[in-house]
Amino acid sequence: MTILIEQPDLDSRAEDLQKLSSDINELVLDGGFVVPKSSVSCNGLEAEELVSNNAFLAPEINSFGRLFRDYDAENERQKSVEEFYRLQHINQTLDFVKRMREEYGKLNRVEMSIWECCELLNEVVDESDPDLDEPQIMHLLQSAEAIRKDYPDEDWLHLTALIHDLGKVLLLPSFGGLPQWAVVGDTFPLGCAFDESNVHHKYFKENPDHSNPAYNTKYGIYSEGCGLDNVMISWGHDDYMYLVAKENGTTLPPAALFIIRYHSFYPLHTAGGYKHLMNEEDTKNLQWLRVFNKYDLYSKSKEPIDVEKVKPYYLSLIEKYFPQKIRW
Ligand SMILES: [Fe+2]
Ligand SMILES: [Fe+2]
Repeated sequence: MTILIEQPDLDSRAEDLQKLSSDINELVLDGGFVVPKSSVSCNGLEAEELVSNNAFLAPEINSFGRLFRDYDAENERQKSVEEFYRLQHINQTLDFVKRMREEYGKLNRVEMSIWECCELLNEVVDESDPDLDEPQIMHLLQSAEAIRKDYPDEDWLHLTALIHDLGKVLLLPSFGGLPQWAVVGDTFPLGCAFDESNVHHKYFKENPDHSNPAYNTKYGIYSEGCGLDNVMISWGHDDYMYLVAKENGTTLPPAALFIIRYHSFYPLHTAGGYKHLMNEEDTKNLQWLRVFNKYDLYSKSKEPIDVEKVKPYYLSLIEKYFPQKIRW
């Protein structure tokens, strides 16, 4: 079943979004550095096999011209962010992404419901973010509840917010214990030139793809307007959760899958790079992603949510859009 949705009425929301924007300047963006309680290895896929350096850094993910809170450790954190992006830009290659998609596309690790995964993510805390010393589920529910308030009729969007970061389980040992650079951070296309819109662009020089003539032109292996669906994006929690949702036959609309898959694609949705790869459908879906993105950030300053109180509503949405048990 395909759920049809209307495009967002951006004009009527303009006032709200303007308010959100002014608040965003004070906020830490979607960092989401989930730190596993213990580390590494699972299902024969050792982190060491996947990466050249499996150090678990704790960078602030929200670089790329986004503002930091004014606190003592800011300089140190900015250095960590830069080191994070250095590792990410060197290690995310087209070959790496293909291997990750193939390996995780098997969805042979565990069977559990969406809510069970929320609770699993709840066990770990983002230790790198001084403002987020609370369980991840709070961020998910705060984003979802904030959107629900402003878009009460778009229940698919509420659920999208709830599940958008579930792919961070990749950091957990039972999901392969991937290093931070293979799970979080801004995402970007592989197989074509690294656009200047990428934060800390200079570190791509050390990426093997950078000197590969098949991959280092504007279009590389792609063609104009080919559509993002045909583009290989750096591996992380976004693409993994997209795979999980799609392969398990979710009935969420295309815009929801687009949001899940590209919510960390800041070079596109915030910096305006890579537009030449988009098709018409991407352009439509991007409107919803921009709506979602505001709440992903804004909700981080919200008060705690009574999980038990809102749980029945979200369980009903999960039941509406997903099978009971899904493969991860
Ligand atoms: Fe998020
Ligand atoms: Fe995220």
